[in-house]
Amino acid sequence: MERREHWATRIGLILAMAGNAVGLGNFLRFPVQAAENGGGAFMIPYLLAFLAVGIPLMWVEWAMGRFGGAHGHGTTPSIFYLIKPSRLSRVLGVFGLWIPLVVIIYYVYIESWTLGFALKFLVGLAPEPPPGASSPEEVLRPFKEFLFNYVGLNAEGDFLKPSLFAYLMFLVTMAINAAILLRGVSKGIERFARVAMPTLFLLAVFLVVRVFLLETPNGSAVEGLNFLWHPDFSKLTDPGVWIAAVGQIFFTLSLGFGAIVTYASYVRRDEDITLSGLTAATLNEKAEVILGGSIAIPAAVAFFGLTAAVEIAKGGAFNLGFISLPAVFSQTAGGPFLGFLWFFLLFFAGLTSSIALMQPLVAFFEDELKLTHRQAVFFTAGIVFFSAHLVIFLRGALDEMDFWAGTVGVVFFGLVELIYFVWLFGPRRAWEEINRGGIIKVPKVYYWVMRFVTPAFLLLLLAVWLFEKAPAVLTQTHWTVWVTRFYMVGLFLLLTMLVFLAERRRV
Ligand code: PHE
Repeated sequence: MERREHWATRIGLILAMAGNAVGLGNFLRFPVQAAENGGGAFMIPYLLAFLAVGIPLMWVEWAMGRFGGAHGHGTTPSIFYLIKPSRLSRVLGVFGLWIPLVVIIYYVYIESWTLGFALKFLVGLAPEPPPGASSPEEVLRPFKEFLFNYVGLNAEGDFLKPSLFAYLMFLVTMAINAAILLRGVSKGIERFARVAMPTLFLLAVFLVVRVFLLETPNGSAVEGLNFLWHPDFSKLTDPGVWIAAVGQIFFTLSLGFGAIVTYASYVRRDEDITLSGLTAATLNEKAEVILGGSIAIPAAVAFFGLTAAVEIAKGGAFNLGFISLPAVFSQTAGGPFLGFLWFFLLFFAGLTSSIALMQPLVAFFEDELKLTHRQAVFFTAGIVFFSAHLVIFLRGALDEMDFWAGTVGVVFFGLVELIYFVWLFGPRRAWEEINRGGIIKVPKVYYWVMRFVTPAFLLLLLAVWLFEKAPAVLTQTHWTVWVTRFYMVGLFLLLTMLVFLAERRRV
């Protein structure tokens, strides 16, 4: 067996892992989730979910990945099989390939918008609010048209007609992703993270400071912060808020995707994961609640007032990040340039995440189907490129994929991972595996949390979800939704076939 690649340095590993986690979710998804769920009412379940689900699952994924890597496997079909040799293990493991694949299909397209917007804003092709515009609607209108033209949303009907520029940017984004992945784990992903993460941090801090200085007769940034950070215990009994909070924790920490597992499979067998895992998770939370929470919402509140800002945020991440924020900036000195910085920040955040979403498939092709690294990257990029056309041209595909893979799938798969690693592998072995080589010892209470609290919590959540939300979703019958569902099932079958093909080739 050829030697497996390893991360070159600890700082590089932590930055790559933080880059994996810090993404569009931190700057676009988090503010929307917080606003939709009552701001201060959201933050309590969110922080509890971080402690009770995020941190334990983070350690489990790191440990599972490092364990798999030591046996030459970086993806869950084989890692589950190592833990319990059965066909079911392989099939359940397929989710660890399928989820990142489905998510990358739309994630990389959104990422390409951020690049396209950044370029347009940089060269002065940004929309401008009509002179003398007074109402929020008037200020927002050109920005809304700009986004709609870009992605081709103005077409009534089921098909989108994105601008040629949008398509071009998608190609460029795919090429950049592939170029980084081609260079490999330490020379590609790690090196890029060492540049991108500090850059991203500086950009975000700069924007936060700029936003804090915003003040209009409608409101101020501080009111936006107050909205987020004023605890509201009255909503704690609303299961919807809990589902949203846990969902956000999964998405932002990249948990339940198989992506952390694959990155961790390049950690040396005896190298620390306890402190590194905790550090990367903490960095992500800082980037999310401090930086992500201090840009889009406070800026919108300062300009439109609290009520209007919350309404805007409820219109979704695209409304907030691609329409309202650049519109707010356009009202200040150097607006287009601030817009450029914002989209460039999103692009870097997205890029360090999208490579993490592709790496599981790359690792699978290399580890299991024994392709060369080049072939693995080309195949992965090829599948993603091809599939993305569904999202680019079919209305509603994006939401459907985000729902099944990025929202429900991850919680389900997180539970499966816990069952395999903590229950089937054995709690003692799991505990040893996590702590081996650790710079810090995981607090003993997590031994119990991992065994009982987290799985019970996730099980309960899935059950509530099944009863509360699933019926409404499943009865959606528009044909575009069904095409997307069939495509997703098709991808699952394809991956399952490849997994068993790989098994055949081994014996
Ligand atoms: N955590 C990323 C975000 O917040 C999304 C992601 C999930 C990236 C899984 C990689 C793997 O945007």
